[in-house]
Amino acid sequence: MSLVPPAIDLPPPLSETTPAVVDLVNVTRSFPGTPPVEALKSANLRIDKGDYVAIVGPSGSGKSTLLHLLGLLDYPTSGTYYLDGIDTGSLSEPERAGVRSVGIGFVFQSFHLLNHRSTLENVMLAEVYRPGDSSKRKERATAALVQVGLGHRIEAFPTTLSGGEKQRVAVARALVGEPSLLLADEPTGNLDSVTSAQILDMFDDLHRLGITLAVITHDDDVSERAERRIYIRDGVLTEEGEEVGESQTDSIWAAEES
Ligand SMILES: Nc1ncnc2c1ncn2[C@@H]1O[C@H](COP(=O)(O)OP(=O)(O)OP(=O)(O)O)[C@@H](O)[C@H]1O
Ligand SMILES: [Mg+2]
Repeated sequence: MSLVPPAIDLPPPLSETTPAVVDLVNVTRSFPGTPPVEALKSANLRIDKGDYVAIVGPSGSGKSTLLHLLGLLDYPTSGTYYLDGIDTGSLSEPERAGVRSVGIGFVFQSFHLLNHRSTLENVMLAEVYRPGDSSKRKERATAALVQVGLGHRIEAFPTTLSGGEKQRVAVARALVGEPSLLLADEPTGNLDSVTSAQILDMFDDLHRLGITLAVITHDDDVSERAERRIYIRDGVLTEEGEEVGESQTDSIWAAEES
């Protein structure tokens, strides 16, 4: 009798079948000038579905540059950005706009709401470029506002909302299209500590629901809530827990303290 077990076809491990939501391969972004600014230097970054990543670094370190690239608001100077397995370099401008409106939700420090539109309209406008019937858009926008705890304020105008409520509208707007990736740039930068904590609790809830989050911040209270921390300093990315040399560790601490 053979001791060799019969061959069975095992499915490949998940990591081989599911593309990363974000996969940056040697991505550089330079801005022309004298001398040119290398705002992002040969960055490699993988963010898997359901990850909650904080990107931390001092002013001018390249955080917004990275966020703009991740959000297809800007192009790498070199390197490749795969989003959900798609080489974004191969997309036409209309295709990029489509991916941006369907696949990516944005939350900014200054909320970016239209003051002369109701909260419901602000959220519905996120799907304006999406085909489909508008009554469904209204239903989805209402559901997103309920999800962020603002079901009772759908007719309110942003000028009558607190900062925390405005940011919750912005999160509802980011979520309504069920994006693969939620990107936030200093989402608590304009909020007091109590309201910030409420927004962070909401991010925890979204993380539990399996949403992929990348949050840019200066703030330790924000970065401590994420499950991964990526440090950026002078355009160079380093992940917490990665092997780094002593001088690099020093520079990360210096970046954290500045
Ligand atoms: N359009 C541009 N043209 C030239 N240089 C730029 C441009 N955008 C950004 N930079 C430079 O790239 C570097 C990174 O800028 P970036 O805005 O990404 O920093 P940041 O980490 O977001 O800073 P902050 O915390 O102040 O928002 C800086 O040196 C900045 O001056
Ligand atoms: Mg910035």
